[in-house]
Amino acid sequence: MSVATELPALTADEAAHSRALQAQIVQEIARAGGWMSFARFMQLALYAPGLGYYSAGARKFGAAGDFVTAPEVAPVFSRCVAVQCADVLSQLGERAVLLELGAGSGAMAAALLAELERRGTLPAECWILDVSADLRERQHEVLATAVPQLLPRVRWLDALPDAFDGVVVANEVLDALVVERFVVRDQRVRALGVAVDDAGALHWVEREAGPELERAVRAIEVDTGLALPDGYVSEINLGLGAWLEAVTASLRHGVMLFIDYGLPRRELYSLERGRGTLLCHFRHRFHDDALARVGLQDITAWVDFTAVAESAQAAGLDVAGYTTQAHFLIGCGLGEFVANVGELDLVERVNLSRQAMVLTLPGEMGERFKVIALAKGYDAPLRGFAVRDLRHTL
Ligand SMILES: C[S@@+](CC[C@H](N)C(=O)[O-])C[C@H]1O[C@@H](n2cnc3c(N)ncnc32)[C@H](O)[C@@H]1O
Repeated sequence: MSVATELPALTADEAAHSRALQAQIVQEIARAGGWMSFARFMQLALYAPGLGYYSAGARKFGAAGDFVTAPEVAPVFSRCVAVQCADVLSQLGERAVLLELGAGSGAMAAALLAELERRGTLPAECWILDVSADLRERQHEVLATAVPQLLPRVRWLDALPDAFDGVVVANEVLDALVVERFVVRDQRVRALGVAVDDAGALHWVEREAGPELERAVRAIEVDTGLALPDGYVSEINLGLGAWLEAVTASLRHGVMLFIDYGLPRRELYSLERGRGTLLCHFRHRFHDDALARVGLQDITAWVDFTAVAESAQAAGLDVAGYTTQAHFLIGCGLGEFVANVGELDLVERVNLSRQAMVLTLPGEMGERFKVIALAKGYDAPLRGFAVRDLRHTL
């Protein structure tokens, strides 16, 4: 993927911010002997305290930011997710909790709580855990404006909680977890990392892969039945298993719903995707130059949902459903939300229909985004997967 259109110029403040983070990265590369893994680079670019993209004050979400997510463009998305959460919360009883990981602007938490209140299925508490302290303030503001009466039920966590019963939701969080990048050369797996050239600029440099990366890429070849060809580049999340295990340990009974763009492994690591799936967002333009505009742009990679399912099973979870976002939302009653327009005026009705199209059309978010449900000690059916369950494709 390349730059769709010319990227907007940086303001002086943005340029200074980016230089400061780049200087920190350059120093760390020097200390480490001249090379940094891509996962470490992504960690710093997105989450370095005070300077990383998610840790600093950039606008990020919405029209004035860099990208939009489903809860931002379409509140009906969160209403549908709430329908699924309501079922699970009702089954789990009155002490059940809603935990949102990576809550972004807080738009989804606010809309989820409003819908759960409307249905009489509010959780005992709503917890939010986000690695970004900057976003925490924004989430507080959004919730205080949208659902002030429910604010006393909302708690921001600094770490995963002890065992609880409830629902965990995370929209576009898996794609923000750091990944390693690799390239295949002469049938060997090489790690693609970051170094500094003579002019002080960051650039890609490959070196021999460590044993974990080598093993993971060979496992992909076995699973896909492909010998990845020379020059094949892609990404892999080596930390997914440990991350999911930690989330699993904190849930006693309940369901996790992860929504993200991604594919089953066989499709993700296909020959057509031999340049990888890194995607950077800067003011609504997307491109794959992850080393540019350090700290000012989002960096993401498509999710390997087969890896999510395998890690889930290894952690002791059941994969309770996997489907496209479109089918999930339809299963959760998107059609009824659009049909029951009640008091809405014409403009609001048109707006709602437009939201439904963005969320479900294959060329928009409908097929690119998937939903996976992971259950622990919970076996009631999940309506979001009743229309179409694609677990057999994982
Ligand atoms: C692409 S944004 C999505 C935000 C929001 N869920 C939405 O859909 O608009 C990714 C979010 O995940 C958060 N995040 C990244 N890694 C995380 C982690 N390990 N635990 C919790 N939050 C994380 C980021 O700070 C950010 O809020």
